[in-house]
Amino acid sequence: MPEQWRTVTRLEKADFYADWLAKSQENEQIVQRDPCVSYGKDVLYVETVQDYKIGMLIGEQVGFPTNGTNLCRAFLPAGHHTGKHRHGEEAIHILAGEGVLLLDDRRYDFHAGTTIHIPYFGTHQLFNTGKTEVSYITAMAMDLDLFVRLGRLEQIEEKGANQPGFEAAFPAQESELDPKGRRIVLHIEDAPDEQKRRDEIAKAKRAEAEARGETAESHGHGHGHGHGHEEPAAKKGRGAANQNPHRHGQILILMGGGESPSPERNGFTAVSVAMTNIFEEVPHTSSHLHSHTEAVLYVLEGIGFSEVDYEHYDWQAGDAVHVTPKMTRHEHFNPSDLRTRTLRIEYGIRYFYEPLWDGYEKVEHRETAIARP
Ligand SMILES: [Fe+2]
Ligand SMILES: [Fe+2]
Repeated sequence: MPEQWRTVTRLEKADFYADWLAKSQENEQIVQRDPCVSYGKDVLYVETVQDYKIGMLIGEQVGFPTNGTNLCRAFLPAGHHTGKHRHGEEAIHILAGEGVLLLDDRRYDFHAGTTIHIPYFGTHQLFNTGKTEVSYITAMAMDLDLFVRLGRLEQIEEKGANQPGFEAAFPAQESELDPKGRRIVLHIEDAPDEQKRRDEIAKAKRAEAEARGETAESHGHGHGHGHGHEEPAAKKGRGAANQNPHRHGQILILMGGGESPSPERNGFTAVSVAMTNIFEEVPHTSSHLHSHTEAVLYVLEGIGFSEVDYEHYDWQAGDAVHVTPKMTRHEHFNPSDLRTRTLRIEYGIRYFYEPLWDGYEKVEHRETAIARP
């Protein structure tokens, strides 16, 4: 036997192949045990050098099997700023309050409803310039970035209190885009509504058809997570509850891309993490049943439930739904008398794997989707 060959003992961690086999089996089991819904009321908040109060909703650290991704909720008290740091891409959606983002020494103003893209390794810091707490949702692929060793996390300054006159030091906001032309902030009032456009197109088609003396029927169906669907006119006699069962109230396009119902991106260039859309569901509607890999919905408003791989999960505002990183079959419902609004987040690593493996092909279970009153 050549000298470099030797026996591996039972106490020695050297059989990497056996480790891979075991890890693969463990992964199969772990994804079956995904809690699927993170309840906002159960989130544990911590103070860090970066944030006064941050809690992880979804991530490996809180029991969700992920692609190395996370979703957190953070709070920044009035009169304070976060630390200054840089790392891989980050997507932020402001829930409450107002303030200023300094990104690579440029200023971008934000308020409740602003969506922010922090480009890869951009140096950034948030200042609360209002009289109330700033609260936001933030998503990253931090564990993945660290695992592949191409992403780093560098702390440049620690969080602290705003000094008197601090705003005088800010430059004026020049643009919502950065010097490379990438969109950094989008205010919700400026976000296009895909559903409104579809309704207008459908209305124009109906008017055209009526002018020709035909019965209008629309089979227009976009692709992706959310599908505004105009029910054929013939089905409309079934009663108000069943009208347009998959219809969204609004589909706001934020960063778009990925599986968004529209290819529009509003100038955002997010790759590894994106807050793609806000979906507003009218009472008594459901999404269609479909399958894909990892994605997250953060519930902004309302009460509803999801069926994920045949299990029922209730949720309400402040909760987050995790679509497990495997082909996960799911459908979302608003059974209530009020609207629901959800923020959709997806992570770009899935698009690295989807073309590699046929099993990752997205499935639209249209034939089995149930439109429930
Ligand atoms: Fe950050
Ligand atoms: Fe989905």
